[in-house]
Amino acid sequence: MNLSFGNVVALLCLTAGAVPGTAQKFTNPDTLAPSYPTPQAVVDEMLTMAQVKPGETVYDLGCGDGRIVITAARQFKAHAVGIEIRREIYERTKTKVAALGLSDQVQIVNGDALVYDIGPADVVTLYLLTSSNERLKPELIKSLKPTARVVSHDFEIHGWKPAAVHKMMVEGRPHMVYLYRMNAR
Ligand SMILES: C[S@@+](CC[C@H](N)C(=O)[O-])C[C@H]1O[C@@H](n2cnc3c(N)ncnc32)[C@H](O)[C@@H]1O
Repeated sequence: MNLSFGNVVALLCLTAGAVPGTAQKFTNPDTLAPSYPTPQAVVDEMLTMAQVKPGETVYDLGCGDGRIVITAARQFKAHAVGIEIRREIYERTKTKVAALGLSDQVQIVNGDALVYDIGPADVVTLYLLTSSNERLKPELIKSLKPTARVVSHDFEIHGWKPAAVHKMMVEGRPHMVYLYRMNAR
């Protein structure tokens, strides 16, 4: 049985944040997760937990409508790069960033996060399945600086020890935020 991202999130609700490993199948090898936005309150918490500083660079791998990169730029004065594989979402998000006057601070890229160079990132944000995090893990280990932080909404990075975990209720369901430090994982 294949479960949609929505089903997985519903399962997460039922299990209050526990991730059932067998439930996380996503069949298209080119995509790490379907489009499913992080609530704004969770975005704020992710960037706060990562302690994003002015001038730092935030990468959102699978940026969707750009809410994480836009928040990083506006509220945290960071530079931000959003990578989005789906062309139509990329076009919409790029247009939105331009309309907000953020094109100098926020770059939206139409590409595959699995092969994009994430080396310049100080902070990487993820809202992808645990199985997708697993596919990204070698690249995170190879490319990120020791000072970099990785912050993941709802889905853990297996085998890494989080520096902090925060559970919050938003829109009637529990959301988990996992913070990892590359030099202490
Ligand atoms: C669950 S949404 C998260 C969107 C945003 N990061 C947020 O938290 O609101 C995942 C996004 O990743 C994109 N995506 C899936 N696989 C990808 C890949 N290999 N490279 C880049 N983007 C990808 C999807 O199209 C979707 O927009």
